[in-house]
Formats: sequence, structure tokens, C-alpha cells
Amino acid sequence: MTIRIQAEPSGFGAVVSGPDLTKPIDDETYKAIRAAFEEYSLLIFHDQPFTDETQVAFGERFGPLEIVTKTRVGGGGGDMIADISNVNRETDEILPVDGDVMVYRSGNEMWHTDSSFRDVPAMASMLSGREVPPEGGETEFVSMRAAYKRLDAEQQAALEGLVAVHDYTYSRALVGSTLSPAQQKELPPAKQVVVRTNPANGEKNFFTASHASHIVGWPVEKGRDYMKELVALATRPEDIYTHQWRQHDLVIWDNRCTLHRGRTWEKARYRRIMRRTTVAGDGPTVAIGSEAVGA
Ligand code: OGA
Ligand code: MN
Repeated sequence: MTIRIQAEPSGFGAVVSGPDLTKPIDDETYKAIRAAFEEYSLLIFHDQPFTDETQVAFGERFGPLEIVTKTRVGGGGGDMIADISNVNRETDEILPVDGDVMVYRSGNEMWHTDSSFRDVPAMASMLSGREVPPEGGETEFVSMRAAYKRLDAEQQAALEGLVAVHDYTYSRALVGSTLSPAQQKELPPAKQVVVRTNPANGEKNFFTASHASHIVGWPVEKGRDYMKELVALATRPEDIYTHQWRQHDLVIWDNRCTLHRGRTWEKARYRRIMRRTTVAGDGPTVAIGSEAVGA
């Protein structure tokens, strides 16, 4: 199988063409895609008309998938498929823009990395554009690896050993969404190292997100401001890759070293149906109840 990988000039992001991901792929193709993922952090594929089933099968090539939060407002679309849409799955009608489900989902419009509020943060996310609006609804991405490289040696050293608390209740409150007691119980705050190292190539990055509430051992406001500063540093306008969706695009990103956010669109007018599979990380970044254990 021929595979063509066109990297962005910045070295962050690549468009991959050739393989049909809706069918089983051979090991060689998987290895080429996986290597590109480790290197470019963000992969774009066009013309991949997935069903939930074929999307799960492709995702599982990368490793075990996360199970969608059971208590999630609005439910998921099946155990391993997250429903990122403005359409009610049962009635097929556009959801009210001011209703609970859409307010909750608007949390995706803040810079974040998926599942950093879980003890085992996500490794990769795979988002399939099933029905995309004619305008708006882009997804933006930045590299925390590139941003880490922009720090000087002293700034990089200051991050070593820090541990941040990522808290879903905190981040959802930022968009005016309140988690139910059951959700809060299912997703208590999680600790994450602030510096991560990619095990495949040794590349380092800082790791933060809108979910990052504070730093362990620091006054809450000081840690919160510091996390916000790192997000701002990573998301300078000139460093943003904006993905304009075409129907049947598949975008894969590395949650260990990128941030992303959805952009709004005319939600009352246009349908936008995306489905996400999420490849689980391979372990916690911090041993529960102790200091950092690695990436
Ligand atoms: C996600 C996400 C943003 C978007 O699927 O994890 O944040 O543009 N999506 O839908
Ligand atoms: Mn997300």
C-alpha cells in the first residue's frame, strides 16, 4: 500500500493519504501511521467514511479505547464512541443551543487535551466528521512540544517535578456547566506531571489544559495563573493549526503533547455530527498519592 505523508512546514501536523482506514490495515501501514503520529502529533486524513464500527476497529489498532463517561450529560453513542454533535441521536433533531447538553459540550471550545482529568490521561483522539457545517465549526490545534522548545533552559528547568491537578468540575464550571454528584464521583480531580517525555523519540513538552486547576503545593491562584500562562504561550495565534472540516475527514491528535479546541458555528441552523474514539494512555503520569513516576 502506498502512503503519502505531507508534513506542515512547521513540523507540527501532516496530511496523510493513501490508506483506506475503514478497512483493516496491514502492519506496515499501521507502523507508518504510528510513526507519523509520534513525529507530527496531528494527522489529517480525507475521505474516510467511517461507521461507528469501522472507527472503533481502526482506533483499536493503536491500543485499548477509553470507555465514554457513563454519566455524561446527553449520553454517548455507544461504549467507545463519544458523541460530539449538536444533534439528538434519538430524534435526529438539532439540540437547543442553551440546553444542558450543548452548554456542557461548549466546554470543548476551551483549549484542552482529552481526559487529562482522568488518572490515566488519553493518548490519542480520533475525530470523524460525519456531517459538517458549511461554515464555522473548525477545530484548532497547537503543539505543547513546540511551545516547550520556545522556553529558555531556565524556564524549562523550573517546570521539572511540578504536578498539576486537572479537575473536570472546575473546567466545566468555566462554561457555566455543573456536573451532577454522580459525575463528580466518577471523575474526581487527577494529578498530572507538568513535563512529559514522548517514549518513542524522547521529545519533551509541558502538559497543561483548561482542566488544569492548580499546582500541587502552590497557592491555588498562583498555580492557576501559571497554568493559564502556559496555555497562552502554547496558543499564540501564529502557532495555531486550524482544521476546516470536510465530510469524512478523520483527524488524529496526540493528547500527550497537543491542545485543541472547537470553534463555534451557527448551532441553531447547521448540523454538526462528529464521532470520537479515544485511545487510552498507558498509565498514570503520577503514582496515586505520591510524586511523579514518568511520562
Ligand atoms: C473533541 C473535541 C472539538 C470539536 O472531540 O475532543 O474537543 O471541534 N472536539 O468538535
Ligand atoms: Mn476534546
